[in-house]
Amino acid sequence: MEQEHRPGRRTLLGAAAALGTGAVVLGGGAGQASAASRGTGHGHGDSGSYKDLPVPTVIGHRGGSGYRPEHTLGSYQFALDNGADVIEQDVVPTKDGHLVCRHENDITGTTDVASRPEFASRKTTKTVDGEAHTGWFTEDFTLAELKTLRAKERIPGTRGHNTLYDGRWQVPTLEEVLKWADEQGRKRGHRIWLHIETKHPTYFRKAGLGLEERLAKLLRRYRRSGRNSHTFLQSFEPGSLQRLNRLGVDCPKVLLLDDLNTRPWDFVEAKDPRTVADLITPKGLKWVSGFAQGIGPWLNLIIPRDKNDRLTKPTTLVRDAHAAGLILHPYTMRNENTFLPADFRRGTDPNAYGDVFGAFKTYFATGIDGIFSDNCDTAALARADFVKG
Ligand code: G3P
Ligand code: CA
Repeated sequence: MEQEHRPGRRTLLGAAAALGTGAVVLGGGAGQASAASRGTGHGHGDSGSYKDLPVPTVIGHRGGSGYRPEHTLGSYQFALDNGADVIEQDVVPTKDGHLVCRHENDITGTTDVASRPEFASRKTTKTVDGEAHTGWFTEDFTLAELKTLRAKERIPGTRGHNTLYDGRWQVPTLEEVLKWADEQGRKRGHRIWLHIETKHPTYFRKAGLGLEERLAKLLRRYRRSGRNSHTFLQSFEPGSLQRLNRLGVDCPKVLLLDDLNTRPWDFVEAKDPRTVADLITPKGLKWVSGFAQGIGPWLNLIIPRDKNDRLTKPTTLVRDAHAAGLILHPYTMRNENTFLPADFRRGTDPNAYGDVFGAFKTYFATGIDGIFSDNCDTAALARADFVKG
């Protein structure tokens, strides 16, 4: 079973040893109003305000990463052409301070660096957000060096077809993506929405490569630092979003939330004892609303799974977040059985597609405002079904 590499946090992607099928029956739960009835969004969110986006908003997770190697211009283009309202970027820095789009600074699994003899000596072990990782890291490469690498599929065992595109694209800089979005916007007659995540901000600040000032500068240069500039900013670290606010970056901000018992890494470093469980109480959410407009919870915080990986009753998180004035962009929906709750798996092949439309319907019914998905086309169809009612 494939494992997603997530330094500093939970490893996910693949928990299903034995797969089952069936339909989930949800209890009353939080009793949230339908997102479609609550949402004011329409069109492409052309005003630049997130309140004008279609609801539930389809966020292309790492682009169209279900079909193309993630965080490449090919992946972003696929997402834009196939139903995503918003395209996601994760950003990390190079040694010479350029922001590049990678899910983590360890580029072993998503580039061909391991096969490049000229970089063999750069292999090393680092502790990132408390977890040791051995491999090659963006902060040890200049941009010129990084640009000699080629991107590849992260989970070839699950997404074998995507390896067709291995080697086709470079690692893009955030600036290249901002230019691409401008160009696509001109072609389409409306600006393109982006959802940019600062990765490991405390780790990089300690390494002398603070992310936020660099990001603020780029956003200003490309007219994306205002409240209505078609751009969300996200982070697992509250301190990163707060710093962006202090830098005068007014884009809507989304605080990402991992499992209940975890703590944002900046809390760990600052010896702040609060966990995600504390942050999703009404008091915690009120605090979050002081610096962010939304939260991006792990889907299990919306509907927990039982020991057999089946969905249980929705929590009150949607209702509580809305009561605090926060929108919800949970992560991550994927078509393959291995990532779906057991209720929606079909057959026994973990890599086969399950009943993802059933899963979307169930999650949309909780009242979420958007969703990160590797499969933006599926998500867009599910949204259309949901809005039709
Ligand atoms: O940013 C939303 C989602 O991508 C968070 O998880 O680890 O895939 O960045 P991750
Ligand atoms: Ca992300």
